[in-house]
Amino acid sequence: MITKNLQLAIDLLMAGKLVAIPTETVYGLAANGFSGAAVAGIFQAKNRPQFNPLILHSNSIARFKEWGIEIPEEALLLAEKFSPGPITFVVPKSELIPDLVTAGHNSVAIRIPNHPLTLELLRQLPFPLAAPSANKSGSISPTQAKDVEEQFGDEIAAVLEGGPCTIGLESTIISFMGNHPKLLRLGGLSLEAIEEILGKSLDQTKLINNENPEAPGMLSRHYAPKTPLYINEAILHLTEAKFSEMVYIGFKLPHAEIPLSNQIILSRTGNFAEAAQNLFGALRQADKMKQKLIIANLLPEENLGRAINDRLRRAAVK
Ligand code: TXA
Ligand code: MG
Repeated sequence: MITKNLQLAIDLLMAGKLVAIPTETVYGLAANGFSGAAVAGIFQAKNRPQFNPLILHSNSIARFKEWGIEIPEEALLLAEKFSPGPITFVVPKSELIPDLVTAGHNSVAIRIPNHPLTLELLRQLPFPLAAPSANKSGSISPTQAKDVEEQFGDEIAAVLEGGPCTIGLESTIISFMGNHPKLLRLGGLSLEAIEEILGKSLDQTKLINNENPEAPGMLSRHYAPKTPLYINEAILHLTEAKFSEMVYIGFKLPHAEIPLSNQIILSRTGNFAEAAQNLFGALRQADKMKQKLIIANLLPEENLGRAINDRLRRAAVK
């Protein structure tokens, strides 16, 4: 059920139910982050491995502090500049947080999403919301309420309608568990913007493409459409498929040979933010075209291009 009724969402969450919530990045599948039982429902609905921890969402840093979460200086510096916004901080966990949320780690991921309706929801709740992206494990993240409804239907209590996500990529995740901040996941806030505020480079050694022990959600094939997706045109030499049986996802320019009706261009003006906003919708749309394969062109490795390329590589057939 898609609803705009904030009070209903509050009542359902207070009763331990699952409600999908809008954020600026992607829709999240939320439950009471202090209730092991409610959080267990998220893992079940998503079919998510229990070794993969969840992000806790609330409306202010002060709330997280009230719940006993200590936030290192450098994280505070970034939060002041970028929160609410597409950035998640991995910091030492407090005792209030069930082990299921953190998958037994001694750290917890926290984030303040930048969406007016969800900020109001979080303000009115006496607990943080644990919320992964509201998709079945491994499939494409939802950027509209109807994407969530399509995947979950009656398996969840409600989807709070908040319009299309304005960023369209999950948050950038940084761990403050060591001496030097580590980038765990590329996302909706660029590496360049973060490093500028910190005045130093992030440690990227934990940003591994395959099974990454520090961010177990970063499994190698993720965000995957059902149609096989290949990066660039290497595939053309390997496949028998005709151009008319391919879908093309490009950044600025169309492909010369694939029929235009089978092409999705992420941003005709070459704008990274617009491309990010369109990415998951493009993957979904490409899948619905039901062709033999999808070819995606990588973007320049800079700014949000990095995170978009990360998602495309994960969506690709290995
Ligand atoms: O933008 C977002 O971050 C969205 C919206 C809904 O907030 N959420 C999201 O959640 O992308 P999810 O569950 O799809 O991805 C969370 C990632 C996973 O890769 C998980 O392994 C990592 O965060 N993570 C969570 N807690 C962690 C922790 N304590 N240490 C390291 N990584 C953690
Ligand atoms: Mg996800």
